[in-house]
Amino acid sequence: MVRINDNYLKLRGSYLFSTIAKKVNTFVKENPDKEIIRLGIGDVTRPLTPSITDALHKTVDEMGKAETFRGYAPDLGYEFLRNAVSENDYKARGCDIAPDEIFISDGAKCDSGNIQEIFSVDNSIAVCDPVYPVYVDSNVMAGRGGEYNEITEGYSDIIYMPCVIENNFAPQLPAKVPDIIYLCFPNNPTGAVISKDELQKWVDYANENGSVIIFDAAYEAYIRTEGVPHSIYECKGARTCAIELHSFSKNAGFTGVRLGYTVIPKDLERGGVSLHRLWARRHSTKYNGAPYIVQRAGEAVYSKKGKKEIKGLVDYYMNNASYILDGLRGAGYTVSGGVDAPYIWLKTPEGMSSWEFFDHLLINANVVGTPGSGFGAHGEGYFRLTAFGSHENTKRAVDRIKAL
Ligand code: MLT
Repeated sequence: MVRINDNYLKLRGSYLFSTIAKKVNTFVKENPDKEIIRLGIGDVTRPLTPSITDALHKTVDEMGKAETFRGYAPDLGYEFLRNAVSENDYKARGCDIAPDEIFISDGAKCDSGNIQEIFSVDNSIAVCDPVYPVYVDSNVMAGRGGEYNEITEGYSDIIYMPCVIENNFAPQLPAKVPDIIYLCFPNNPTGAVISKDELQKWVDYANENGSVIIFDAAYEAYIRTEGVPHSIYECKGARTCAIELHSFSKNAGFTGVRLGYTVIPKDLERGGVSLHRLWARRHSTKYNGAPYIVQRAGEAVYSKKGKKEIKGLVDYYMNNASYILDGLRGAGYTVSGGVDAPYIWLKTPEGMSSWEFFDHLLINANVVGTPGSGFGAHGEGYFRLTAFGSHENTKRAVDRIKAL
């Protein structure tokens, strides 16, 4: 008789954004005349830029000719893209990351869910609270969660690092040392950032204790403040303790195209074993690579024209972020994030719970956001708005919220 992986039964409800989509769909069905503005999921709305679409068209044509057709991509990804990543995202910032330490994939979400596979199930993990749900759920699926506690709203074996207004939404070094530490800066969902000096403390802590940091840098393109690190490899010693995840979704609008990469430096070893070697084995066994046409589109992101266009996209969304931040602050809301990140984190008014505020906004302003409690117990009483809408919708949403 087949037995299922009963760790899956320990997961809470459905994936956060699926729950929200279901709620919104029901509301839309019952209120077909209402015009909904969606500032919930962090999905982009601007189209791909000309450099990207040119690269896609060109390579689709290449794939249609025998002499330029390509089959399976190389295991780690095409060299042209790994070279571009190494030069632009690392060497240009003084970080020593070689092309063969970069693994091209179809996005940071998959990598952030899959990376735990190369670690023993006995490892303890630490996450920020609130947190991007994939880090927790993928570890629960693997059996690292322990039991869910309805009172603490957390899993018994996971170390939660509260990120609250009192610590500027930046986690403190945990007293009980975790084996694996997930960090995401600029942060999803709070939009908070940490300085290079603060990140250096995490790198030192991980090296002293033998922990590994999984650093999610999906939102680095949104950093505007001087001194905020774009990569954990800007910190001394990170090559021996950190894995970094990157996405092309949030900067270049690849949410529907799918492209990302993971960096594992060759110096990163635990128990005398290279983590690079393990991930390479996993990658080549379970994955056949992002499509050639998509990797060429990724290369175009780093062209001179591509960089200018991507900056335009990021500026567009950051303009939305400022509008939300200023508008809601002016209306008396307590808001943060939105300066170096496309997420705005606001305190729900009048002691409403996160889901109460979600319903209030949906019903009375027809605006969709994300309840903070969906990201963890310490997100209760907070709410996330994304800057990824169009200018017009963002402005209308803020005006509607202000008029409540
Ligand atoms: C979010 O809304 O948190 C993001 O869309 C998550 C993701 O990129 O998977």
